[in-house]
Amino acid sequence: MGQKITVLIGTMTGTSEFVADEVKATLEAAGHRVTVEPMDDLTESIFETHSTFLICTSTYGQGDVPDNAQAFFSCLEQARPDLSHVQYGLIALGDRTYKTTFCGGGRRFDALLSELGATRLGEPLMHDASSGTLPEDIAVEWVRSWANTWLDREAEVA
Ligand SMILES: Cc1cc2nc3c(=O)[nH]c(=O)nc-3n(C[C@H](O)[C@H](O)[C@H](O)COP(=O)(O)O)c2cc1C
Repeated sequence: MGQKITVLIGTMTGTSEFVADEVKATLEAAGHRVTVEPMDDLTESIFETHSTFLICTSTYGQGDVPDNAQAFFSCLEQARPDLSHVQYGLIALGDRTYKTTFCGGGRRFDALLSELGATRLGEPLMHDASSGTLPEDIAVEWVRSWANTWLDREAEVA
């Protein structure tokens, strides 16, 4: 029984978007209905329509969210919507050579969404670009297990 899931993309050079497309295909093959939304131009209203989200974001600057996610992030910080109906998984892309800011963009979203009352489903995926693994391969494997653990037991959500 499928759920409606929206994957929100924060990216600078397109890696997160590519990962999100692969994740979408995997979730759809498991029977879910998936929409992919780049974070550009999003507001808190994205969280009003349904409850299950995947945040897929990279990290830039000093552990910051990418440019296309900045306005959305600030909007959530200022509007502080009640997200207690929201559940989310987190795919964070980063590079361990940045040491203390590793996957900072994903960590910042995680902290903010929790502060706003949303519930994270499972441990985040934190991909290290210096590991020699392909983020889309790791993400597809992660999301299969994530969906099996957290989604398949749920009833269908409109
Ligand atoms: C200028 C620059 C700054 C970066 N800063 C960080 C960082 O602070 N922490 C981190 O974990 N990764 C950092 N990264 C790595 C990217 O987040 C990583 O390569 C990611 O896979 C890029 O995904 P994207 O193409 O979706 O933006 C940085 C990359 C660049 C080019």
